[in-house]
Amino acid sequence: MSDARGVIRLESLTKAYGRVTALDGVDLEVRAGEMVTLVGPSGSGKSTVLRLIAGLDRPDHGRVWVDGQDVATVPPHRRAVAMVFQDYALYPHLTVRGNLLFGLQVRRVRRAEADRRARAAAERLGIADLLDRYPDQMSGGQRQRVALARALLREPSVYLLDEPLASLDAPLRFATRADLLALHRELRTTTIHVTHDQQEAMTLGDRVVVLAGGRVRQVGPPQQVYDEPADTFVAGFLGSPPMNLVPGGGLLGGDAGATLGVRPEDLALDGAAPVEVTLEAVEALGSEAVLLTRADDGTRLTVRTGPRPGVGPGERVRLRVDPARVHRFDTATGLRR
Ligand SMILES: Nc1ncnc2c1ncn2[C@@H]1O[C@H](COP(=O)(O)OP(=O)(O)O)[C@@H](O)[C@H]1O
Ligand SMILES: [Mg+2]
Repeated sequence: MSDARGVIRLESLTKAYGRVTALDGVDLEVRAGEMVTLVGPSGSGKSTVLRLIAGLDRPDHGRVWVDGQDVATVPPHRRAVAMVFQDYALYPHLTVRGNLLFGLQVRRVRRAEADRRARAAAERLGIADLLDRYPDQMSGGQRQRVALARALLREPSVYLLDEPLASLDAPLRFATRADLLALHRELRTTTIHVTHDQQEAMTLGDRVVVLAGGRVRQVGPPQQVYDEPADTFVAGFLGSPPMNLVPGGGLLGGDAGATLGVRPEDLALDGAAPVEVTLEAVEALGSEAVLLTRADDGTRLTVRTGPRPGVGPGERVRLRVDPARVHRFDTATGLRR
């Protein structure tokens, strides 16, 4: 039992809401101390996975194991998990201190000890000066920190974070992401971090789990999933702008029955290269530029270059393709070949 602390195992989890299949046979093992990011489009079943682990909902089939124990008969408050919701779910009528103390009081921790722990958690998340505020007197970022502090106080085996950064503006999201990473490095508590943001998934996860349509499409270290996407869905989902996918191969090299893919950064302007296209638009992003091009056969290719590429819309340009970076998928199944 003790060596299983922090281990999560999901076994063929299936869940339907009426006629909507939310999960369709999800298998996953999360290792002790690992931070896994669960990424997928809206409606892919991410929150449902967390709700089933937390016990807020029951699977139709399959099993959930927490700390080596099948938790089918364990009610939510007895599971060693702490969930943080996207909308924070703070008690509006309680101050920050009240929100933090609530769970400790339920567990009958003595007042002085509870105060000490609440303050320590608040300090750790940089909200110690807000203890007397009410939720509606704080910004979204501050409320999110209260929700995280409250989760810390549960001292769980596993954190379940449901899009905790989604409603923060970009600079704050960036800063909080770094804080979450530092916190995880320090505590080493198993964490499942749900996000629809692929950058967040790549930067936070020891491993990334890609979910689509209630199924796990791929599990692996971020760079591996990026470099070797298991299918055309993952190829198109991770990476921005997305991978160029050309059914039949076309100008990337004909291959009937296959879809060839190449990422925008693996194409380059090269006057001596054989592939000729028309530049339709240039998106200057400051640190880089994205070129939207179209070949004579209608194929569109997106190219990522450095800033100031020195070419403009309407020009004919030639593209070099790095052959080692061309991905090959089966067109019928979408699977990597
Ligand atoms: N309580 C519910 N009642 C009906 N449908 C639901 C319920 N919860 C989730 N669903 C449906 O299940 C699917 C997966 O939902 P969810 O897990 O919330 O996706 P995600 O978190 O990836 O956006 C969606 O189609 C959603 O509409
Ligand atoms: Mg969700």
